[in-house]
Amino acid sequence: MAPAAAVVLAYLLGSIPFGVILTHFGGAGDLRTIGSGNIGATNVLRTGRKGLAAATLLLDGAKGWAAILLCESLFPGTALFAAAAAFLGHLYPVWLGFRGGKGVATLMGIVLALHWPCGLVYAVVWLGLLGALRISSVAGMGAAISAPVSAALFEQFDMVILLIGLCLLVLWKHRENIDRLLSGTEPRLGRKHG
Ligand code: G3P
Repeated sequence: MAPAAAVVLAYLLGSIPFGVILTHFGGAGDLRTIGSGNIGATNVLRTGRKGLAAATLLLDGAKGWAAILLCESLFPGTALFAAAAAFLGHLYPVWLGFRGGKGVATLMGIVLALHWPCGLVYAVVWLGLLGALRISSVAGMGAAISAPVSAALFEQFDMVILLIGLCLLVLWKHRENIDRLLSGTEPRLGRKHG
């Protein structure tokens, strides 16, 4: 019963599409019709609204983090269920016809909540790649790959299988970015999308 309640609560939290909400109420239009059409902070940045992009990044991360802490405090022992459900809520939100985001920011919040040193590695890999290459998708995929690797290195074996699954979902959600990377058309951060 407790895992089911945690799954529902975490899914609902994860499914809040902050990027869409903030751009709509910030007067920047429907994010799903802008740039890549993705609902994440990178695409919010393409509206030219840096403040909204920063808020989206923060809130998309915070909802993953909060879902785990909330579920674990209400229903002890449900952190991993909550992690999976919050992540799936972000990727497949019922409110948007199950067409959600790519999961990079939400996964950071999740990893930070599950084991903060792994979250720190995730943030360093993400920001390091972003600073070096200025290609958001590469930075996000690199950070996602770091999650199960660092969990294994820190011997957090209960997290590894889950994080492998979530990492594969991040890669799957980036399949169009991967195509663009291979054809050399993936835009750098802040540049206009194809
Ligand atoms: O976190 C999303 C990012 O990795 C790619 O976003 O809009 O360039 O497809 P986008």
